Amino acid sequence: MDSIIVTGNGPLKGQIPIAGAKNACLTLMPATLLSEEPLTLTNAPRLSDIKTMTTLLQSLGAEVSQLQDGQVLVMSSHALDNHVADYDIVRKMRASILVLGPMLARDGHAVVSLPGGCAIGARPVDLHLKALEAMGAELELKDGYVHARAPGGLRGGMVDFPIVSVGATENALMAATLAKGTTVLKNAAREPEIVDLAHCLRRMGAQIEGEGTHTITIQGVDRLGGATHPVVTDRIELGTYMLAPAICGGEVELLGGRIDLVGAFCEKLDAAGISVEETAKGLKVSRKNGKVRAVDVVTEPFPGFPTDLQAQMMALMCTAEGTSVLEEKIFENRFMHAPELIRMGANIEVHGGTATVKGVDRLKGAPVMATDLRASVSLILAGLAAEGETIVSRVYHLDRGYEHVVRKLVGVGAKIERVSDR
Ligand code: EPZ
Repeated sequence: MDSIIVTGNGPLKGQIPIAGAKNACLTLMPATLLSEEPLTLTNAPRLSDIKTMTTLLQSLGAEVSQLQDGQVLVMSSHALDNHVADYDIVRKMRASILVLGPMLARDGHAVVSLPGGCAIGARPVDLHLKALEAMGAELELKDGYVHARAPGGLRGGMVDFPIVSVGATENALMAATLAKGTTVLKNAAREPEIVDLAHCLRRMGAQIEGEGTHTITIQGVDRLGGATHPVVTDRIELGTYMLAPAICGGEVELLGGRIDLVGAFCEKLDAAGISVEETAKGLKVSRKNGKVRAVDVVTEPFPGFPTDLQAQMMALMCTAEGTSVLEEKIFENRFMHAPELIRMGANIEVHGGTATVKGVDRLKGAPVMATDLRASVSLILAGLAAEGETIVSRVYHLDRGYEHVVRKLVGVGAKIERVSDR
C-alpha cells in the first residue's frame, strides 16, 4: 500500500484543473444498460471507482472502451449475457447498485448483490427497492442478493421518498425512462449529478421534466437511443482544492470550476474570510486578509452544504480563529478524520453527529491513516499547512475519487510525494 508524504511549504500559487465528477460518472455509466446503442461519455475522470464500474458493466456483457487516457468512455450493451452483479465487485463499490434499475427496466430481470455498509455508515438500499416496487418490480432478498423481476416490464408509478436519497433517485429515474406510463418522483434529490444524468438520458430520447427540483416526472418510452455526453465538473474535487489556498494561503485558480455547483460551500468560505472570484477559466481562491475565521457547518442535501466536503472543511477549521461546530446530518459515522487530525494537534471534540473544533495556531505533521475517501484528502489538506512532515497511509482510498492528486498539488507549489510503503 502506498503512502503520501506532505510537508508544510507555505502559500500556494498557480492553477489546478478540475476533472469530471466521479459521482456523475458512476450513474451515467449504468445508463448504457438502458439502450442497445452506444453511449459515449467525455470528460470522464481517471479513478479506480470508474475502473470498478467498468469491470462490473463488462461482467454483464456490456462493452466499455477507454480512449484518450481514460477521459472518453465508449460503452455499448447491445446484448447482456449476464444479469447478475456479483458480490465480489459490488462490495468494493456501493454505487454498483445503480445497475439494478437500468437492467430491470431493459430486460425485466436482474440479480444484484446487496452492497453492504461502508466505513461512513450502514448505507441501506431500502429506498432504491421501494421505488422499483412502486413501478411494479417483484423483489426477493435471498443469500445477500436482490432478485428483481418485472415480467411484463415496469409500469409508471408514484414514488414519494421519505428522505432525500441521491442513489435511489438515480436508480428510479433510470428505471422510469423505459416504464410503461408516467412516473413521478417526489422529494427527489436535487444534486447536480442528478441533473447531469437527466440531461444525458434526454439526449438518449428519455422524456423527463423537473430534474434539479424536488419533483421529477418521467414519461416512459419504448426504447432509448445512443448519445454522447460530457460528464459535469466534479464539485467535490473543486471544493476540496478550493480549500488548499484557504488552508495554506496564496492564490489558486481552479480551471473548469463553476460557482453554481458550490453555492452553499462558497457562502461558508466567504464567512470564513476566504475570497472566491469567478474568472474566464474557472474560480480563483485566496485568503482575504491573513486569518481564517471559524464558521459553523451543517451538512444537508443539495443545495445545502455537501457532506462530501465536511471532512475537508474540518481541516480548515482546525487552524481558524475561534470555535466551529460541524454537524453531520447525512451519515452516521463520518468523523473518522477527527482522531487523525487530533494526532496533528487539532482540538476537536466529537459527540454523536456533532464535532466542535477549537482553532489552534498551527498543526504539526504526524503519521496519520486514511479511513475513507474524503477523510484521506482532509488529512492531506491539513498536512499542506502543518509544520513538518505528515505521512498519510492507506492512500488507496484517495485513488477512488481524486486523479493525480500529487501532480495537481505539486503544480501549485506544494511539497508532496507518493511513496510505496516502506
Ligand atoms: C451519494 O451516495 C454519493 N455517492 C455519496 O458520495 C454522497 O455522500 C451521498 O450521495 C450524499 O450526497 C455516489 O454518488 C456514488 P444517499 P448515496 O442515498 O446515493 C440513507 C463520496 O464520498 N439511505 O443520498 O449512497 C443513507 O444511509 C460518496 O463520493 C437510506 O436510508 O447517498 C444516508 O444516510 C460518499 N436508504 C442518506 O440516506 C436508502 O435506500 C443519504 O444517502 C438510501 C440511502
